[in-house]
Amino acid sequence: MEVLIRPYEEKDYIEMLNVTMELWNLKMSPYTKRDIFTNTNIIKDTGTIPSKINEGIIIAEVDECIAGVVHLDYCGKRVSKPESLCVLRLIQKYGLFRLLKVREMGRFFEHGVKEDELHIHGIVVSSKFRSMGIGSKLFKEIESIAEKKNIKKITLEVLDTNVSAYNLYKRLGFKDISKSTFTKKQQKYFKSNSHLYMMKEL
Ligand SMILES: CC(C)(COP(=O)(O)OP(=O)(O)OC[C@H]1O[C@@H](n2cnc3c(N)ncnc32)[C@H](O)[C@@H]1OP(=O)(O)O)[C@@H](O)C(=O)NCCC(=O)NCCS
Repeated sequence: MEVLIRPYEEKDYIEMLNVTMELWNLKMSPYTKRDIFTNTNIIKDTGTIPSKINEGIIIAEVDECIAGVVHLDYCGKRVSKPESLCVLRLIQKYGLFRLLKVREMGRFFEHGVKEDELHIHGIVVSSKFRSMGIGSKLFKEIESIAEKKNIKKITLEVLDTNVSAYNLYKRLGFKDISKSTFTKKQQKYFKSNSHLYMMKEL
């Protein structure tokens, strides 16, 4: 199987969003109480992930399909201005309460990136392509991006129940640095007690 690892291009937008949502929907649905289709539209319509310039996204392509996506955060990342619907239209479409919930969720998962840090905001391999080494290939690319930028620390977060991802990160040299404990409500939603923060020093 040939895997092409390359930067995101504007033409990838919808497919990239669909693969990304295989991960993000798990976090969004407890907040929005909506299905993956609506949650994908919320991300698109609020401009949460801009479609044009987006330097921080890496694509894994197999047979012209997007099999994996990584979202990175680092200081100085070039991103185009989000093209969101106007606030009134958003409220009409999704309701104020739901939009506030999405904002609350965004704040909870926000991570202020430091100068010397490359943060993996999300990594996802589409379900039918998992356990074939694509995730590991994406990590190689992440490290090469960090090296080119002379950044020595790579960080990420993982739910404490995501054993397979956690084991992969450990094997790739990430170490636990801290954890944030979920509220009782979040523990119920995510079926998990906490988010573990991990770091690899290059
Ligand atoms: C986490 C994720 C990105 C890993 O991607 P992947 O393409 O499956 O990763 P890889 O194939 O490189 O490695 C993972 C698997 O290969 C095996 N593997 C990879 N390299 C290996 C090695 N050198 N030696 C032994 N086993 C290895 C691991 O045992 C693991 O198997 P398992 O998941 O069946 O237990 C992917 O599983 C995913 O998208 N999960 C859902 C979303 C998610 O949880 N994202 C992470 C949020 S923090």
